[in-house]
Amino acid sequence: MRLSLSVLAVAAVCVLHGIPRATGEDIGTAERVARVTRAAYLMQGWYDPNKGLWLTAGWWNCANILQVLADLQEACPNCHLTDKVWSTTWDKAQTGNGFKDFKNSYYDDNAWWALAWLKAYDLTNNPRYLNSASLLFDDFVTTGTNATCGGVWWNRPREHNTAIANALFISVAAQLANRKDNKKYYVEWAKKNLEWFQNAPLLRPNGLVQDGVSISKGCAVGGGFYTYNQGVILGALIELNRAAPNDTYLPYAQKIADAAISIMVDKNGILHEQGDNTTTNPSLGYDGPSFKGVFIRNLGRLAKEVKSEKYRVSSTTTRRVSGNQVTKAIAPSASTGPVHETISRVLRSTNLEWTLSSPL
Ligand SMILES: *[C@@H]1O[C@H](CO)[C@@H](O)[C@H](O)[C@H]1NC(C)=O
Ligand SMILES: *[C@@H]1O[C@H](CO)[C@@H](O)[C@H](O)[C@H]1NC(C)=O
Ligand SMILES: *[C@@H]1O[C@H](CO)[C@@H](O)[C@H](O)[C@H]1NC(C)=O
Repeated sequence: MRLSLSVLAVAAVCVLHGIPRATGEDIGTAERVARVTRAAYLMQGWYDPNKGLWLTAGWWNCANILQVLADLQEACPNCHLTDKVWSTTWDKAQTGNGFKDFKNSYYDDNAWWALAWLKAYDLTNNPRYLNSASLLFDDFVTTGTNATCGGVWWNRPREHNTAIANALFISVAAQLANRKDNKKYYVEWAKKNLEWFQNAPLLRPNGLVQDGVSISKGCAVGGGFYTYNQGVILGALIELNRAAPNDTYLPYAQKIADAAISIMVDKNGILHEQGDNTTTNPSLGYDGPSFKGVFIRNLGRLAKEVKSEKYRVSSTTTRRVSGNQVTKAIAPSASTGPVHETISRVLRSTNLEWTLSSPL
């Protein structure tokens, strides 16, 4: 769900100090681990253990912050930075926020949480996290499929059919296929939705994934080109390729990543959302940071999967998206004034993605 301005707190100045700068210089493993550890502690300074969430970050953004922390834990297994976060968030976030079982009206939000719990399961081996992800997927299948134009719905009132909800559905299905007994069932769902995704066709002639299909316009593809739409499908294809190998999946992912790098990164190496106007759609200024973090996380996975330096953010294409540069790139509406506190918090998690995607 994209945030509306009404749920945001009043702006406050927040100086962006202490953020790891993924500037691409060779800082060495120890220094990199020190930086991500420091940044994680700073992130946790905004953690509200009573709510299990990060102050002022939105519901879906928090699920992504959990994924960042999981990546950090994976990168630094002995740091034990996330030990308490999983159980505290699992206990508190669903009760304190009225979203029992991490379910709300937006299927994409639910799927972000499913992905977060899948990471928690991988790290802890605790079956309750796998079960949470599995229940969220069951709910998606039983209430959110059969959208008018095919694929899955974006929300329970069945208003929109978006690329993001569909890519997340494929990703969760493929991850469950690789972790649950009933592999065939999950693979079938993932393949069915991927087929729809390809035929819609959400991949446009410029090689980028567009935002969705319009029910009122005869299922025509439309909307902006957002970085997270380029990102989630990469992770989905990687995971599906592990569950049910197909020679077309990784080349498909690379085609999208190549297009995103060539079209969405400007000559200064700044990553931009495309086809949106931050004057008419200011809320993107608050979701934009998370969008880019999602893209970078999945691009990093692709770099590892196909063993290509081309997709590493430490390569020249995207390395300048850090520090003040990232502020301008991801929050153009705030680039001339103080950084909005909400942005800076989500921004910090995005910066963590950047650091983690560089080789540790
Ligand atoms: C989708 O259609 C199938 C086949 O008609 C049906 O079994 C299933 O219950 C439907 N699911 C939803 C969410 O409407
Ligand atoms: C591989 O994936 C492509 C694209 O989704 C599909 O058309 C093709 O049938 C798949 N091949 C196999 C052997 O399943
Ligand atoms: C954004 O929309 C506003 C209002 O319609 C318009 O004045 C402005 O020129 C647009 N900006 C860009 C970059 O298209």
